[in-house]
Amino acid sequence: MKKIIDEISDILKGAFEKAGYDGQYGRATVSNRPDLCEYQCNGAMAAAKAYKKAPIDIAKAVADEIAGCDAFEDVQAVMPGFINIKLGKAFLAKYLTGMKNAEKFGVEKPENPLTIIIDYGGANVAKPLHVGHLRPAIIGESIKRISKYMGHNAIGDAHLGDWGLPMGEVIEETRLRHPDLPYFDPDFNGEYPKEAPFTISELEEIYPAASARMKEDEEFSKKCHESTLRFQNGEKGYKELGQHIISVSREDLKKNYANLGVSFELWLGESDANPYVADMLKNMEESGVAHESQGALVVDIAEPGDKKEFPPCIVRKSDGAAIYATTDLATLVQREKDYHPDKVIYVVDKRQDLHFLQVFRTAKKAGIVRPETELKFIGFGTMNGKDGKPFKTRDGGVLRLEMLIKQVNDAVYERIMSTREADAEEAAENAKIIGLAALKYGDLSNQATKDYNFDIDRFTSFEGNTGPYILYTIVRIKSILRKYYEVGEKASSDEIKCAMSDTEKTLMLQISRFSDMLEGAFNETAPHRVCQYLYELSDAFNSFYHETKILAETDKEKQAGWIELLKLTEDILETGIDMLGFEAPDQM
Ligand code: ARG
Repeated sequence: MKKIIDEISDILKGAFEKAGYDGQYGRATVSNRPDLCEYQCNGAMAAAKAYKKAPIDIAKAVADEIAGCDAFEDVQAVMPGFINIKLGKAFLAKYLTGMKNAEKFGVEKPENPLTIIIDYGGANVAKPLHVGHLRPAIIGESIKRISKYMGHNAIGDAHLGDWGLPMGEVIEETRLRHPDLPYFDPDFNGEYPKEAPFTISELEEIYPAASARMKEDEEFSKKCHESTLRFQNGEKGYKELGQHIISVSREDLKKNYANLGVSFELWLGESDANPYVADMLKNMEESGVAHESQGALVVDIAEPGDKKEFPPCIVRKSDGAAIYATTDLATLVQREKDYHPDKVIYVVDKRQDLHFLQVFRTAKKAGIVRPETELKFIGFGTMNGKDGKPFKTRDGGVLRLEMLIKQVNDAVYERIMSTREADAEEAAENAKIIGLAALKYGDLSNQATKDYNFDIDRFTSFEGNTGPYILYTIVRIKSILRKYYEVGEKASSDEIKCAMSDTEKTLMLQISRFSDMLEGAFNETAPHRVCQYLYELSDAFNSFYHETKILAETDKEKQAGWIELLKLTEDILETGIDMLGFEAPDQM
C-alpha cells in the first residue's frame, strides 16, 4: 500500500500541475501546527522563487484546484503561502480499511531485500553480563526486528569476546587449581575429556580470582599472557580448554540473553575470525594497502577532507600479535564470504567510534567489503544512574544485569500490589513481563547516541512516556474487547467506519501513519521513532476512550465500528512492542 503521506502528495502534485506549476512542489508534510491542520504543503514558497510570483497566489491557485477533492475536507491557503490540509473522513476510513485488510498493515515488501548483519552482543566469555551489555542487546535486537518486519534478511551475531587475555587468565587459574588436567600435559596423546572442568558458577568465580592474582603476582601475570598467545596459536591443550571456556559461557549467555527477550542467529565469537587473519594480512601487505611502521603493520586511513587527523589502523602489533581491529577486519572477511551482506550494523559503545572508523576505512581500502556495502556504527551513549553518574553498585562495582532486572521487577511488583488486589504469584509473573517493557522502553525511547539516566520510578510508572503505559493501553483494549464478546456480541467487519468525533479522527490519523513511521525508523536505524509513535498512538486511543462510551453504546452498528477500530489499534500496538522486543500481559 502506498504510504498515506504519498497519497496526499500525489493529489497535491496533480493540483500544482493543473494550476500550471511543476508537480515536484506538491509534497505534503505532517503539520507542525496540529491545532490548525493535519498536513501541510510548503511547496508554494519554493515555487514562488522559481516562477517569480507571490507564494500566496500560487498557494491559492493550488488550493482552488483541490477544493472539490473528496480526500480532503478542508484546504486553506494561508500567509505567506502555506497550504493547510485536513483529510476527509471517508478517505481516512478507507485508508484504514486498506491497512486492516492488508498484510503487515500495508507495509510494502522491499523490491530487493537486503542482507543485514547486526553485531550487537559483544559479551565476553567467562564474565557475567553486566549493565554495560544491556544497551547493545536492547537496541540491536530492536533494530533487527524492525529490519525483519520491513522484509529484510536480518542476521544477529553475538560476536562474543573470546580471544583476549581473559582466556589466558582462566586457563592459568585452572592450572593452579587442577594441575593434573591433561590440557596442561604437553605429552598427552589421548582423547581430552568431553566434560568441561568447571561449571558456569565456577567459571564466574575463576575469572575474577585470576584477575586479582594477576595484579599481585607478576609471574602469574606473565603466564596468563603466554597462555593467551598459546591459545591464540592453537596449541592443542590450550585450544581444547579454551573451547570449554567458550561453550560453557555461551550456554549461560544464551539463557541470560533469552531472559531479556534477545536472541542471535549466529553465536560466533572473535576466535572464529582467526582462520582468516593470516591471508588477510598477507593480501594487505602484498597489495600495498598496509605498510610497516615501527615494526607494526598499519593502514593509513586519512582521507582528504578530514577535519581531524586520524591515526593509522594497526592491523598487526610489532610483536606479531593480532589486535582488536585485526579481529574485526577478519570478521568482515568471514561475513563477506558467508553472507555477502549489503549492510553491517555495529551496536557498540560510542567511545569506540575511532576504532570503527579505522576498521571501516581499512575494510573499504583493502577491498574486504564491496564498495557499495554499507558499514554502519551505531554508537550508544552511557546508561547512568538516577544521579546522572555511571551506573554502579553500592560498593562501586559493576552491576550484574540479573540484579538490575530484579530491581526493576521488584519495583513493578510493588506497584501492582499497591494498586489492586492481586494474587502474589500472578503479580510476580506479570511483573516480569512489565518489568522487561519498562527496562527496554526506558532505553529505546531515547535516541541511542545519547546518554540517559536510568530512573526506575519513572520507567516503571503506568503513566507518561513509559513501556508500562503502552502495555496498560493494550490491556485496556483487550479488556474492552473481552467484555464486548462476553455478552455475545460478535462484530466483525472488513470495514473501518468514518470518524464521528475529533478524538476518533486523531486516533485514525495516528494509525494511518504506521508505515511512514516504520520506514523512517528503519532508514534512520532509530527504534526511538517506534516508541514515539506508540506513545502518541496510546495517547490518542486513551483520549478517544475517555470520551466515548463504547460498551454502553446502544447503536449496535456504531459500536461494532468502534470495535473494529479498537482491534486495529491493538494489533498495531502489539506489533510495535514486538519490534521493541517485549510483549503485553493479559492484566495489569
Ligand atoms: N567485546 C567488546 C568489548 O567488550 C565489544 C565487541 C563489539 N563488537 C565488535 N564487533 N567489535 O568491548
